[in-house]
Amino acid sequence: MGPDEDRSLLRDGDRVLLVDVKERRYLITLRAGAAFHTHVGIVAHDDMIGAPEGSTIPGSTGRRFLVVRPTLSDVVLKMPRGAQVIYPKDLAAMLMEVDIAPGVTVLEAGVGSGALSMALLRAGAEVVGYEVREDFAQVARMNVAALLGEGARYRVELRDVYEGIEEGGFDRVVLDLPEPWRVLPHAEQAMRPGGILCAYLPTINQTSQLRQAMEHSAFGLASTLEVLHRTWHIEARSVRPDHRMVGHTGFLTTARLLHPDGGEGRSPQG
Ligand SMILES: C[S@@+](CC[C@H](N)C(=O)[O-])C[C@H]1O[C@@H](n2cnc3c(N)ncnc32)[C@H](O)[C@@H]1O
Repeated sequence: MGPDEDRSLLRDGDRVLLVDVKERRYLITLRAGAAFHTHVGIVAHDDMIGAPEGSTIPGSTGRRFLVVRPTLSDVVLKMPRGAQVIYPKDLAAMLMEVDIAPGVTVLEAGVGSGALSMALLRAGAEVVGYEVREDFAQVARMNVAALLGEGARYRVELRDVYEGIEEGGFDRVVLDLPEPWRVLPHAEQAMRPGGILCAYLPTINQTSQLRQAMEHSAFGLASTLEVLHRTWHIEARSVRPDHRMVGHTGFLTTARLLHPDGGEGRSPQG
């Protein structure tokens, strides 16, 4: 057996995604001797442990289940939630907009269920999270630990970011909370010049208020986008967009912290 095949074998303790014939998805952690109950039958964990990823496993009623390790996107959509998570399509765009790379330092507020934290950490960032609710902070810590283990790159503090940011020198500030304009003065103090701030907001009214506040701040090169994600139905000669899509999630606004001596304009044309 080559090393690639060995890596594909499912082990006790692995998190896996079970997919039934109707493409319903279940996220479970394999435990020797355990059983997973669905309304179309029971699947023994022992039948999956030792099987190669991508196998089809029969349940107690003969219905078959495909078993693979979940992607980050699968985990985000299925994991326990405190607060509403940011959707994978927006997480993907955020990583690129905020230019996350190994070693980039991020102040994230509020961390909610930890979906954004997971995406940032997986891309190599070092994250300090602020969250006002202890129960949500615990959910975020638990979700991050389940994905990546306990690690030194992640710390969640019980703090109200509207009251200030304790540390300084962050490369990035990412915000998923209702009034990010209240964070701009604190972010100016806590970030290095050239750093990128990103705020995720569900409504255009909030986005507009943020953009107006940015006009009177040290941030420049502001831009706002929305990600539209449409899947397609492809079956034999029936090839068309799916009838349903995620209609609206939120708006992403990013801006760069300018150097205080960098001139008066907010852009080269300014
Ligand atoms: C929508 S949730 C964030 C979800 C998170 N981005 C995720 O992907 O899982 C917003 C969070 O912001 C927190 N929050 C609201 N105001 C805050 C503040 N001033 N400081 C810190 N956290 C705050 C809320 O408690 C909530 O958990």
